Amino acid sequence: MIKSLNHIAIAVPDIAKAANQYREHLGAVVSELTQQPEHGVSVVFIELENAKIELLEPLGENSPIAKFLERNPQGGIHHICLEVDDITSASEKLKSEGVRILGSSEPKIGAHGKPVLFLHPKDFFSTLIELEEK
Ligand code: CO
Repeated sequence: MIKSLNHIAIAVPDIAKAANQYREHLGAVVSELTQQPEHGVSVVFIELENAKIELLEPLGENSPIAKFLERNPQGGIHHICLEVDDITSASEKLKSEGVRILGSSEPKIGAHGKPVLFLHPKDFFSTLIELEEK
């Protein structure tokens, strides 16, 4: 079902500092900062040949990454995103197998304008998994 790695998302307390660290020491090409108030994050993208790294900083009152940063004040890997061909059939399959989907279990439009789902980290060895339709 899963096809390829789309991105690894890293929550950081200071996105400008983090972007600079990747640029200066790893030669990363870092995108402009974009604010996504509907997702409660500010984001920069680092394009790799085969995937992206996304640096995320909380934005606004109810950021979904605020709690994570409280527990991990220096930052850390927040989720990995894997691509699937058909998010609706993936959702149905996982539900029928008892895998917990966060929220309503209906795919939502994610940060890249494509439908996504998040799987409960307790079902995947403490890793939050985002599934994104290709
Ligand atoms: Co993501």
